[in-house]
Amino acid sequence: MKFTTFYFSGTGNTRWAVDEFARIVGEKGHQADVVSIDIQTSLTDVELRGMIAQADAIGFANPIYGGDIPPIMRAFISRVVGLVRPQKMAKSAYAINTYGYVNAFGPTEMQKLLAGSGLTLSAYVNIRLCNNVTSSKPLDRAKLAKRMVKDQKELERLVDCLMAGRKRIKGHGPQLLIGAMIRKKVPEAIAKFYQTLGVDGASCTRCMACVENCPTGSIRLTGNRFVFSSGCTACMRCYNFCPTGAITIDGVRSDPQKFPRYQGPEA
Ligand SMILES: Cc1cc2nc3c(=O)[nH]c(=O)nc-3n(C[C@H](O)[C@H](O)[C@H](O)COP(=O)(O)O)c2cc1C
Ligand code: SF4
Ligand code: SF4
Repeated sequence: MKFTTFYFSGTGNTRWAVDEFARIVGEKGHQADVVSIDIQTSLTDVELRGMIAQADAIGFANPIYGGDIPPIMRAFISRVVGLVRPQKMAKSAYAINTYGYVNAFGPTEMQKLLAGSGLTLSAYVNIRLCNNVTSSKPLDRAKLAKRMVKDQKELERLVDCLMAGRKRIKGHGPQLLIGAMIRKKVPEAIAKFYQTLGVDGASCTRCMACVENCPTGSIRLTGNRFVFSSGCTACMRCYNFCPTGAITIDGVRSDPQKFPRYQGPEA
C-alpha cells in the first residue's frame, strides 16, 4: 500500500509525527511519502493530482491552533477537495494532529472540510507533544519524551488500522464545545498575527533565514525594513528559529536566555 501524507509543521512537532508514521509504515513493508505543503514545495495542480491518484490513502497532518487547523492547511485541504471532486476519486483520508494542551478541533470539523470530495475520513488521531508558543517556563524534556513513546504507539495503531481498512476516529469529547466557541475568534486573531511581528535591528544579522524559511512567504526585506504580510499562518517558525532571537512580538524582543526558543522535539 502507498500512503501519502501532506503535512504542515511550523516548528517540528508535526514533522516528527509524520516521520514516525512513515518509519512505521516502512517497517511493515509498505510505502509512505511525506510532502510538506510549505510555499517552498510549490506543487502544481497536475503534480498534486498525480500524487493523490497514486496513493491508496492520503493524510493531512498539522498542529492545532486555538481549536482549529492552521490557515495554510485549511487552504491546502480546500485546494485538494477542489482537485479531487470533479474526478470522483474515492479515497481514504486520515488526519494526524499535534498539540500541546488540548485539541478542540475534532473529527466532525475535519469531515466537514472533506465533504463532497469523495475522500472519506477513516482515521483521525491526536498526537500530544508540547506547546511551541513563547514561554518562560523551561521545556519539560522528560515529560515530552514520555509523550513521544505514547505517540509512537498511537501512530502504530493508526498504521495498523489503515492497513486493515478499520476506522480509527479519536478526538471526540467535551473539549469540542470550547472549540466551537473559540473558533469564532481565533481565525481573526491568527489573520492579524502578522501585524504583531517585527525585527529587532540591533540583534538581526540579516542572515535572511526568516525570509527564506517562512512557509507562507510572508516576510520580505524591502530596502532596510522587514515587512510581514497577511498570508502569515502564525506558526512561530520565524520567532523560534531566528539564530539571534531577533524576531519581536508586539515590539518586544524576548531574551532567548529567559524565553528559550522551541525548535522541535529532537532539537
Ligand atoms: C497560534 C498557535 C495556537 C496554538 N493553539 C493550541 C491549542 O489550541 N491547543 C494546543 O494544545 N496547542 C496549541 N498550540 C501548540 C501547537 O499546537 C503545538 O505546539 C504543535 O505540536 C506545534 O506543531 P509544529 O511544531 O508542527 O508546528 C498552538 C500553537 C500556535 C503557534
Ligand atoms: S532570521 Fe533573524 S537574524 Fe536572520 S534576517 Fe531574520 S530576523 Fe534577522
Ligand atoms: S511570518 Fe513567521 S509566524 Fe508568520 S507564517 Fe511566516 S514564519 Fe510563520
